[in-house]
Amino acid sequence: MGNFKGKDILHGNQFSRKDIDGIINVASGFEKELKKKDSLTLLRGKILATLFFEPSTRTRLSFEAAMQRLGGGVIGLGSVESSSVAKGETLADTVRTVSQYADAIVIRHPRTGSAKEAADAVPIPVINAGDGTGQHPTQALLDIYTIKKELGSLKNLTISMVGDLKYGRTVHALAELLSLFQARLYFVSPLALRMPEEITSGLRAKGIEVIETEDMLKAASGSHLIYMTRIQKERFADLSEYEKVKGSYVLNKAFLDRLKKKITILHPLPRIDEISADVDDYPGAAYFRQMRNGVFVRMAVLAMIFGKA
Ligand code: NCD
Repeated sequence: MGNFKGKDILHGNQFSRKDIDGIINVASGFEKELKKKDSLTLLRGKILATLFFEPSTRTRLSFEAAMQRLGGGVIGLGSVESSSVAKGETLADTVRTVSQYADAIVIRHPRTGSAKEAADAVPIPVINAGDGTGQHPTQALLDIYTIKKELGSLKNLTISMVGDLKYGRTVHALAELLSLFQARLYFVSPLALRMPEEITSGLRAKGIEVIETEDMLKAASGSHLIYMTRIQKERFADLSEYEKVKGSYVLNKAFLDRLKKKITILHPLPRIDEISADVDDYPGAAYFRQMRNGVFVRMAVLAMIFGKA
């Protein structure tokens, strides 16, 4: 595994296959340790700042839990409205300020490229927890960890990504990581929400087989795993365009019955209507296990950037 001490975590393309294997090992070690005790002391005295300029439940709380399980502390803005951002402070000045109080920053911001901007403004490590429609690398790492755990291996997989492939940053980052393992990929979306062409052509240039289709049943029938995503309503400039595509894909019990084979189901969450509640007790429904894995994987990422793994 490469040396991540002091490094920023900004993009899915910054990891090698060896890095992924290393991160999975470290995360799995933390998962085992947390079965024996509630918390560790590896990052005692370190402070993580969480800067979320967009809504978050899982990403923020799992980062905070991860830091605290490692013995470190967390500070964060209660809300953007209660900070000087509301007075018009720039992102660069805000992160410069925060870098005086914390040893690392986790940031989520609506502008694509914002995490890189923040990282360029400060000497401490910055972790991208979602930059607009860009990337969400730690989500992709926890997705990969979950796939390995659920399916036993990352080799020779066929994976369907379904829903909003245009605006969904989780699928942008995950496609990068899966390309390291020569996965076959089905991209299932309405025509208006296809995966950005530069990502698809980048994957094909690496020799990855990519099949774009609107047919979820056909794709799922040929896949080991289906990765559902939410239509990213907040990214549509024109809400009537959203109305046209909302509810395009719904995974429910009736669909699984038609599939006639077991499939593993992931979703970064939150779900709106794309996975029905009648799927939740299906054995392959792994999305609640997936969100728990976020804590172990984020512990691994934090330990790495602080040079402790
Ligand atoms: C995702 C996000 O914010 O990009 N959620 C997450 O981090 N688990 C997906 C989404 O909001 O649809």
